[in-house]
Amino acid sequence: MSESKRLAGEKAIEFVEDGSVVGVGTGSTVAYFIDALARIRDRIEGAVSSSEQSTQRLKAHGIPVLDLNAAGPLPLYVDGADECDPHKRLIKGGGAALTREKIIAEASERFVCIIDPAKQVPVLGRFPLPIEVIPMARSLVARQVLAQTGGQPVWREGVTTDNGNWVLDVHGLEIVDPVATERALNQIPGVVSVGLFARRPADVVIVGTEPPTVL
Ligand code: 5RP
Repeated sequence: MSESKRLAGEKAIEFVEDGSVVGVGTGSTVAYFIDALARIRDRIEGAVSSSEQSTQRLKAHGIPVLDLNAAGPLPLYVDGADECDPHKRLIKGGGAALTREKIIAEASERFVCIIDPAKQVPVLGRFPLPIEVIPMARSLVARQVLAQTGGQPVWREGVTTDNGNWVLDVHGLEIVDPVATERALNQIPGVVSVGLFARRPADVVIVGTEPPTVL
């Protein structure tokens, strides 16, 4: 499994432009990308990071970490996913970094998603859908998610996001219209962000086969 993640992470280096600032996601697949990025760090200006975890790894490799407000629009964002459908729509947030990941994906011209083959699904929803919520709205959001979708929200107890919020994981979904579901769940007061990347899907998906498959 980690060999597939390494193959996908290293392949994504081919998308990095010289002299650019690179958007960097979060997770074990991205860790391989960061390690490969370190080998070409003299060719890039720096990175914008989606989590404290990735920031630490980038800094440990001597890669400058820049603020998104200062960096402006980015040419490239590289991140993993928990599920990917044939239209490159994703479920993300298994690492609780979904909100910053969504912000950087939106700020980037090209989103390259790096996954192992097990993440490919015909329909999203087998992986519980993460939703970041303002803590005081946890029960309200859970009730409304249940009413709207029929899915079972479970509080990811003990986890606080980098933004100081909590995460609900919604089990038992079959998301046939991910754009509509993303839009509807985003409307619930107290929802910070939904781990559906459908309105802004990936542009390129790299699957860590041997050799890697670029979709
Ligand atoms: C973090 C994410 C990750 O991209 C997702 O969980 C995949 O992680 P991994 O590469 O470790 O399988 O969305 O919030």
